[in-house]
Amino acid sequence: MIQLDLDTRLLAENYDELSDYQFDNGRRLLELLDIRPNSRVLDIGCGTGRLGLLVAESLGDDGRLIGIDPLPERIRIACSKKAPANARFQVGVGEDLGFLDCESIDVVFLSAVFHWIANKEKALREIARVLKPGGRIGLTTGARELAREATYRKITDRVLLRLPYNKVVNIEDYVFTRHGVTATQLVQHFLGAKLAVQSVDIRKRCKYFRSGMEIVDFLESSTFGNYLQHVPGNLREDARREIILEFDSLKAGGQVEFTGFTIFAVAEKPLVD
Ligand SMILES: C[S@@+](CC[C@H](N)C(=O)[O-])C[C@H]1O[C@@H](n2cnc3c(N)ncnc32)[C@H](O)[C@@H]1O
Repeated sequence: MIQLDLDTRLLAENYDELSDYQFDNGRRLLELLDIRPNSRVLDIGCGTGRLGLLVAESLGDDGRLIGIDPLPERIRIACSKKAPANARFQVGVGEDLGFLDCESIDVVFLSAVFHWIANKEKALREIARVLKPGGRIGLTTGARELAREATYRKITDRVLLRLPYNKVVNIEDYVFTRHGVTATQLVQHFLGAKLAVQSVDIRKRCKYFRSGMEIVDFLESSTFGNYLQHVPGNLREDARREIILEFDSLKAGGQVEFTGFTIFAVAEKPLVD
């Protein structure tokens, strides 16, 4: 089960510092969305607001950026940043957009968030409701069909498949993989919400970290504490230490390569039903 109560101030601060992997993906998503000035834009799962603020700066005085996130510590950081007057950040979840009128938003985006949303049908219904006809949704999310090919899974599984972890851990229990989608499932979700698919593609993404410790800090902060929740508490610290060493063993030229496969998708609310 996804736990939203594990986040801390330190995890939120680490995320703000270490989230270039998501930020770079987010910037590529924005290129696909090509958001026009004066648009009304909703950033669902805005985290600490890095991407939302970039969008707000491009919207002009008549545009509007609303960022929502369920984690108060992340919203606190987003609100503490210097922001243009057209930006607002508040606590909220993708499944409940009741604070927005029907057909009031031009673009909704979810950068590295969809795999966290437990009730995807409900969230997409809400998104379809608030989008104007012709409005678009864009998202990035880890490709579930390729989850095992991602560096974090290869390395973490290598440790968790050893004794004593393999006696008590099911490596399929990463909460974000459980709630993730394949590209096909994502298309089915869009179609179910009557959203017209414009593009869906899977891209290999790569980032370099300075150490195993930095990668594990990144994983813990981007999963707001859920990364090793499927490991019993009495074994978690040992597993964490071994995982850091395994990542460090990949070091070449002072860096550890971290790759993953990300789905980039854009869909549109049709002009007529
Ligand atoms: C990996 S972070 C991505 C943050 C930001 N979008 C970015 O690109 O850096 C995932 C975010 O999804 C948020 N989240 C989790 N469940 C959510 C939900 N049901 N609705 C909206 N956001 C959610 C988390 O609080 C977290 O901030």
